[in-house]
Amino acid sequence: MFFKKKKEVKRDIDLTKLPQHIGVIMDGNGRWAKKRGLPRSAGHSAGAEGLKKIVTEANNLGVKYITVYAFSTENWKRPKAEVDYLMNLLLGYLKDAERSLAGENVRIRAIGSRKELSKEIQEQIIATEKLTADRSGIVMNIALNYGGREELVHSAKQLCRRAAAGELDPESITEKDIDQGLYTAGQPDVDLLIRTSGEQRISNFMLWQISYAEMVFVDKPWPDFKPEDLHECIRIFQNRGRRFGGVDNA
Ligand code: FPP
Repeated sequence: MFFKKKKEVKRDIDLTKLPQHIGVIMDGNGRWAKKRGLPRSAGHSAGAEGLKKIVTEANNLGVKYITVYAFSTENWKRPKAEVDYLMNLLLGYLKDAERSLAGENVRIRAIGSRKELSKEIQEQIIATEKLTADRSGIVMNIALNYGGREELVHSAKQLCRRAAAGELDPESITEKDIDQGLYTAGQPDVDLLIRTSGEQRISNFMLWQISYAEMVFVDKPWPDFKPEDLHECIRIFQNRGRRFGGVDNA
């Protein structure tokens, strides 16, 4: 059974072996709403509400980074009304997060290409990042107009600029150089990737950072994903044998 009593699941988690960085593909908002005879927008709102609880719980446990896939570079293909709704929701979330996640000490960052976003959202991102920058709790990366391939292009452009300016010898480029050009520069790789709603694919999410991530696919849609489910995902993560291409030392 996926659900366990909260206390019981918590006891199963080894707090000394937490994933440092959790990535979340919050899928299934639309299906959650449809099942209830509600518009898709209701699923997105419920998903945004639930997200606060998940980030709070991850922070309480001691997880250092969480990246959530809020809007992909491909999501512009959705009907305009849905895109507009998601953008408004994100704007409200960024505005509200300063207050509602303050007690949780959450530091908020946006990752993705900003220039396609409205000026209002761009300005709000800057304001929210600035207001939360000095917090010491979990770093929450909101992937917004984010695509893993676009991020690699972004990094490649930086390297090319440096090479063209004579600051970098192309032959000396290392993985670290590429890493430093990513939106997540300076952050650890993703250890645990969670995707809800039963789909088992990556959908252009953090292609570089998930190289050695453990993947956990959860059947329930995102609005039904509760802190107890996060515990269960972490427990699954802790029971996996991670070898990073090597062999067990046992
Ligand atoms: C995928 O479900 C979900 C999205 C494309 C948006 C995710 C956004 C939220 C959870 C809320 C906003 C986020 C923040 C940070 C405020 P889907 O719509 O593809 O669902 P479906 O596959 O059932 O149609």
